[in-house]
Amino acid sequence: MDTIERDTRTEFDLARTGPGTAMGRFMRRFWMPVMRSEDLPKGHAKPIRIMSEDFALYRGESGQAQVIDYRCPHRGAQMHLGWVEGDDIRCVYHGWKFECGGQCIEQPAEEPGFARKVRIGSYPTREHLGLVFAYFGEGAPPPFPPYPAPQAEGLIENQTQFVPCNWLQCFENSMDEVHVAFVHRIGGSHSGIYDLPEIGAEETDWGMLRTGARGNELRLSLHYMPNCTRVIVPPMAGLDGVGGWRELYLAFTPIDDETNRWFITNLVGVTGAAKDSYLEKRAQYYAKRADAGPAEELAREVIDGRVRFQEIDHPDRVRVQDIAVQAGQGPIADRSNERLGRSDLAIILWRKILERELRAMEEGRPLKEWTPAPADVVPTLGF
Ligand code: FES
Ligand SMILES: [Fe+2]
Repeated sequence: MDTIERDTRTEFDLARTGPGTAMGRFMRRFWMPVMRSEDLPKGHAKPIRIMSEDFALYRGESGQAQVIDYRCPHRGAQMHLGWVEGDDIRCVYHGWKFECGGQCIEQPAEEPGFARKVRIGSYPTREHLGLVFAYFGEGAPPPFPPYPAPQAEGLIENQTQFVPCNWLQCFENSMDEVHVAFVHRIGGSHSGIYDLPEIGAEETDWGMLRTGARGNELRLSLHYMPNCTRVIVPPMAGLDGVGGWRELYLAFTPIDDETNRWFITNLVGVTGAAKDSYLEKRAQYYAKRADAGPAEELAREVIDGRVRFQEIDHPDRVRVQDIAVQAGQGPIADRSNERLGRSDLAIILWRKILERELRAMEEGRPLKEWTPAPADVVPTLGF
């Protein structure tokens, strides 16, 4: 193989997504997953932090989920402390009530007529595949859903994982098929794809199509703009193969620049009796996982040298392995000294796409119109 080394240093900081940053402005042009639907019961309100900004998210009595500003416009109380009333929310501090569109409709201790002059920020909020998505950009949001549902039959399950590092190094890891042969060799979770693949990548209308070729077998994976990967993965470690290989969407939502949350949407190909036995096995696995403690805490011990990488023992071993190498790159990976090669082709292409779009945005030129992928463009394993 000839030597290829590529320099992808860019003038843009692709990692930082706070308000006012170039990447933050770009990311706010897309729907962003913010919480699992199952974590937001009717009548509950919760605080969320997305791209270095705080918000409140509540679910009205009709079932509608709504993202609003974190603080009340009166004197700044946290809105998630309030009462959900119908599809409205009332601030806990002095009882100002807001309808889900943000208009203030009641101020018990104030003069009539004041309420109609007051609004709280309210953000378009929708649900898809068991996740709550919100739109934080200017103007009308792009089409919803941002990506199609899986076509195959089965059970949709959502998992979520807090990860103590910048979102982009996690997203880039999801484009890095070579790491599987090394990081996940211990424990044998990914046997079947340990041969080193030849990586290919091409830009599409919705993001990037990535291929991993092993002999004449091709693994096809999808990357939806701006932060979601759809791929076929091995059975979850800890489930002893029950449920088989699965289709998975992995979305990386920045909490702030040094932490992110993974939203992992699995399609497990089980129906009928197979589904029942899968659910039974999964309940045992979830119990084991709860006993073992959070994956990110064990990953921290590995990063700090208190546990050897080779000795990671956890029902979510794969996740601990991934977090250890990704968060181990640092809270925000330093890309200035990287030495990228042929196997980094997909990461290089993605950075080039982002750089092109950010430059257009900075120069006031039109950006590419990303469209949701057609339902029949799906990831495959190829064998
Ligand atoms: S701070 Fe919310 S009503 Fe006063
Ligand atoms: Fe991995």
